[in-house]
Amino acid sequence: MNKGKITQRVFHAHSTEVLLDEEQQGLAFKQGKSTEARSGKTAFIETYGCQMNFSDTEIIASVLTDIGYDFTQDESQADLVLLNTCSIRENAEAKIWNRLHSLKAIKKARPGTLIGLMGCMAERLKSNLLSRDQLVDIVVGPDAYRSLPELISEAEGGMKSVNVLLSREETYADISPVRLSSNGVTSFVTIMRGCDNMCSFCVVPFTRGRERSRDPETILHEMRQLAENGYREVTLLGQNVDSYRHEGVNFAGLLTRAAAIDPLMRIRFSTSHPKDITDDVLEAIAMHNNICKQIHLPVQSGSSRVLELMRRGYDREWYMKKVSRIREIIPDCSISTDIIAGFCTETEKDHKETLEMIEWAKYSQAFMFCYSERPGTLAERQYEDDIPLAVKKERLNQIIAIQRNVQSAVMEGMKGSHQKVLVEGDSKRSSEEFCGRTDGNMMTVFPKAPGMMPGDYVDVRIAEAGAITLRGEAISPAERIMEIPE
Ligand code: SAH
Ligand code: SF4
Ligand code: F3S
Repeated sequence: MNKGKITQRVFHAHSTEVLLDEEQQGLAFKQGKSTEARSGKTAFIETYGCQMNFSDTEIIASVLTDIGYDFTQDESQADLVLLNTCSIRENAEAKIWNRLHSLKAIKKARPGTLIGLMGCMAERLKSNLLSRDQLVDIVVGPDAYRSLPELISEAEGGMKSVNVLLSREETYADISPVRLSSNGVTSFVTIMRGCDNMCSFCVVPFTRGRERSRDPETILHEMRQLAENGYREVTLLGQNVDSYRHEGVNFAGLLTRAAAIDPLMRIRFSTSHPKDITDDVLEAIAMHNNICKQIHLPVQSGSSRVLELMRRGYDREWYMKKVSRIREIIPDCSISTDIIAGFCTETEKDHKETLEMIEWAKYSQAFMFCYSERPGTLAERQYEDDIPLAVKKERLNQIIAIQRNVQSAVMEGMKGSHQKVLVEGDSKRSSEEFCGRTDGNMMTVFPKAPGMMPGDYVDVRIAEAGAITLRGEAISPAERIMEIPE
């Protein structure tokens, strides 16, 4: 993520080993995959933003595979260059504008190359994206990926093509994602789309439309296929997974059914909303060994006054009660968060309450941002963005510093413990080492031992704690059996 952050989500997360900010990371989706290319055309896709966007890129790849596209890692060789974009903060969009600028050379060298913008920025700016420099040929919003084949045909015929219609039903339930950039062990499965919450700072309800839940049978089917293909971890994705509901199945019900698919398949989920997460969900986590004891519970601010302005639907006391309840039902649960510094009218007192909340909640990870005003949001329409940037940055730095201390203490406290790590692959630094995550989502590095493979669960004794990574050694041979839940 960014320098401002001390943790990351793996993409996910939302994540990776470095400190990346979802929109700043812009992980290139760059893995060649051969398909029988009917069109003989190649596409290059680059993904920005959150895990949902990464998951959407796998849907887009599936739609393109069906019309014969192959994929390339080399944008200068591609017939189609697609950027799956993010609008969450102003700098997320600035990054895309810069990237578009760099694509000018490609269009100049190969004028037939089509350039498409997809995702949240495409939805927000719509055909306004076409005007700049005549560079963009295709604009597609998050609910219109099925129409890509027609849009590409139109663009090949020389027309600029746009589809930014939002849908109340689309969940892409029947599309089998093409997992181009997969490590073969962990995967995302989108369980719902859109958001109905309308937090006053947030552009997502405008870019992704109304909330809708995907048919559970299709979710479970996708998970079974992943299990059959050797995947060992699925992260269920939605902007607010706790409001998942499909014909009588709620999120707790979905989790319970998902956990029963394969005791070797770990389940994570993101994002939980403090106002909606229920005891049923917490009990489902506590009851199943293969549901990770990790909850991403964004607080945004520690001040009840600011939370009210943010329209988050909970106050400081409610949030603290929720955290206490989590710790009561799942004593060893990791809790992570998102925090916004310098929201409209935020005083030093409000800010101090956020700092206190970080110390109190003992977050295992946090994603921290300066408030960025987004066009069309309630905050933009009704409040003044009155905290100077220098103050926002100063507060953000204080938040980061405190979280760094809290996180170090959490990680230090893990020294000497035994953690069940799911091996994802070689560590970044050495092919002699494996890396993987603990149940609580801590990246852990340890020396390889004979017979150990990606996809194995290994018990690791933690010896060292860095800023974001644990190090240790395997104390059991590759262990293939997790306890089967009751
Ligand atoms: N659905 C998730 C959040 C999705 S956006 C939830 O409700 O928690 C991810 C994070 O980006 C948010 O939690 C928030 O911390 C941050 N964010 C969203 N809009 C922002 C803005 N306008 N300025 C700064 N940060 C923002
Ligand atoms: Fe945005 Fe709030 Fe919805 Fe999260 S819950 S996506 S912050 S509107
Ligand atoms: Fe960005 Fe859209 Fe995700 S705005 S954070 S890509 S939902």
